[in-house]
Amino acid sequence: MKGAHIAVDAVTHTYRRTGKAAVADISFEVRPGEALALVGRSGCGKSTLLHIMAGLIIPSQGGVLVDGLRVGAPSPKWVVMFQQPSLYPWMSVAQNVALGLRFTGRRREIAARVPELLRLVELSDYADRNVQDLSGGQQQRVALARSLAPSPEVLMLDEPFSALDAFTRGTLQRDVRRIAKDLGITLVLVTHDLAEAVVMADRAAVLSANPGRLCEMVPIDLADRDNLRSPEYADARNRLAAAYEKAAGRELTRFADPAGEDHPLPSSPLAKPASAT
Ligand SMILES: Nc1ncnc2c1ncn2[C@@H]1O[C@H](COP(=O)(O)OP(=O)(O)OP(=O)(O)O)[C@@H](O)[C@H]1O
Ligand SMILES: [Mg+2]
Repeated sequence: MKGAHIAVDAVTHTYRRTGKAAVADISFEVRPGEALALVGRSGCGKSTLLHIMAGLIIPSQGGVLVDGLRVGAPSPKWVVMFQQPSLYPWMSVAQNVALGLRFTGRRREIAARVPELLRLVELSDYADRNVQDLSGGQQQRVALARSLAPSPEVLMLDEPFSALDAFTRGTLQRDVRRIAKDLGITLVLVTHDLAEAVVMADRAAVLSANPGRLCEMVPIDLADRDNLRSPEYADARNRLAAAYEKAAGRELTRFADPAGEDHPLPSSPLAKPASAT
């Protein structure tokens, strides 16, 4: 496996039902094998952007290129994991993991690949268990193994751990990052949890809302991601929090100042208050 390069190019999307832009003029790149977090407060357009990157929504303007090819539909090159693992409850762990291979016509690989994937997510002892008997965290591990089965080049996650307790969440965050790095997969992670972004991502794209715009790219360079008490961890966390607050401040500015004079984003010359759109 190798990670794909992703280019998000001037993406704007307006949902037909509301007629309001959910995201506006967003451009950035994700390097092969990089882990990128999309952060911002609720409703800023993180899921919309991820769906566009996955080919589940075609944007009103602009587009996304994966390894130079325009994204127009879902593809086996990338997989998306959501908050709910959506496993088949009447199947065993191994059968659920095999589904991705079954659907992509690679049945012959199942016997060798499924044990390997279960080892990767540390569920070897659970192969024959019914998924209903597993904890939430274990179910997300099954979903992760199923996602990795067809050897995707990009793994996209939309707040997949937010329903889990803090300890399970912490373990999965580290494991997913480690697995993606070991396999060389590009990781795109949506979260509003800044600690999660710091633990998992190499960079964080901070979005402001109404409509969602890219405010800042925050690099997260940590030598040791296991030490949550290190000064460099605190520094990364503080820098990200500052960018997050700045993004929220810009939203307030947009509301308070219809002329947008305090709104320095070049991509937002009009910066109308949300109520005027
Ligand atoms: N299917 C839809 N039809 C119309 N508007 C939508 C649709 N999905 C999202 N929106 C709107 O687009 C904006 C961005 O929503 P989105 O779900 O992308 O935000 P988010 O950052 O993922 O939020 P959260 O953190 O709560 O999941 C919101 O104003 C939302 O109401
Ligand atoms: Mg969302």
